[in-house]
Amino acid sequence: MSRLVFLLNGPNLNLLGKRQPHIYGYETLADIERDCRALAAELKLDLRFHQSNREYEIIDWIHEAREIAGGIVINPAAFTHTSVAILDALNTFDAPVIEIHISNVHKREEFRHHSFVSLRADGVIAGFGTQGYQLALRRVARLIDDKG
Ligand code: DQA
Repeated sequence: MSRLVFLLNGPNLNLLGKRQPHIYGYETLADIERDCRALAAELKLDLRFHQSNREYEIIDWIHEAREIAGGIVINPAAFTHTSVAILDALNTFDAPVIEIHISNVHKREEFRHHSFVSLRADGVIAGFGTQGYQLALRRVARLIDDKG
């Protein structure tokens, strides 16, 4: 099983640190990437870390992951609640998928309570702040280890 993990981030997450910090905190996406890279090295994972505001780009990365990756961690951001296309792409991927949200989406507006991506995800992390990324990476490493 490949130890390459794609960590994908959806729209507006490039503005982390500046965007509604009372909800998402003050850490930037660059801070998250730095911490994820350090943890990935510890867990002996190779990491591809991406962010896009464009749905098609996220779909293209999932297609790329299909060929080479052992897992996907994805914060689809607003596409969580709207994108059948991202769900369809994830359904073509045969290895573990972990969905992550910085905020507790279930405590927020009702439209955030439904996730298309959860129909495919093997696990969902929400409301753990940016620490959720670390937890997701640990989980995906465990699932890859278990599969051998
Ligand atoms: C989010 C939650 C989504 O509802 C929202 O659209 C985001 C970020 C989170 O990480 O908490 O952009 O995925």
